[in-house]
Amino acid sequence: MQLEIFEDHQGLSDAAASDIIELAKIKPSATLCLASGETPRLTCQLLVQKVKNENLDISRLTFIGLDEWVNIPPDNEGSCHYFFRNELFSPLGIPEKQIHLFDAMSDKLQDECRKMDAVIRNKGGIDLMIVGIGMNGHIGFNEPGVSFDNYSHVIDLDDTSLSVGQKYVKTKVSLQKGITLGLRHLLESKKVLLLANGKKKAEVIKKTLEDNLTNSFPASIMQKHAHGIVMIDEEAASLLNQHK
Ligand code: GLP
Repeated sequence: MQLEIFEDHQGLSDAAASDIIELAKIKPSATLCLASGETPRLTCQLLVQKVKNENLDISRLTFIGLDEWVNIPPDNEGSCHYFFRNELFSPLGIPEKQIHLFDAMSDKLQDECRKMDAVIRNKGGIDLMIVGIGMNGHIGFNEPGVSFDNYSHVIDLDDTSLSVGQKYVKTKVSLQKGITLGLRHLLESKKVLLLANGKKKAEVIKKTLEDNLTNSFPASIMQKHAHGIVMIDEEAASLLNQHK
């Protein structure tokens, strides 16, 4: 695992977007998994600009959505669907056949998980995974205590995710469960970028990098990934020992 510290959110977002561009050039049929949320929003926006500026052909890329809130419809602006459509798929005109998102409104969520696992398997695995980190150290909805051996699964959200999650959802909906790729997907993906910015992420970044590897703090799994890069800004790095 490597650590890269950037001056600000713009710097790390630009580097992450450039990584995607580079991959799309080297492997036009690559499979990319992206997280939603405030952290990767700028990465998506810069990616849209770069693809347009370079007139890059991305018609063979496959896009996988990392996770989704169970019971939040895709037209709710708090959903991951809404984020991806707005920030990436619509601006780039990416057709449905290139997109794989969990249908978290399905009454057969286990089938959704198996479908997603099959897509990833059939593509030969994920080439690049870009994830954020939750305030309890979750990645996607891999909540504290989750097994590192899981592929896609449905999980009860813990209290931190439930309260932090309210920031995304303006209308009243009940959040209880999430559906998510598993940490086994992360371990098996060819490259992973974990992005974090701002002072509020400093504590969780310190735990990710400096505490022991443990499933009670899922993001610590990054320590195990040979091609994992933690990309953070100065503020998120502010509590690291090497920075004091
Ligand atoms: C959410 C999502 C994650 C996301 C994380 C951080 O709950 N399940 O996929 O990466 O929390 O979000 P943000 O970037 O908004 O801080």
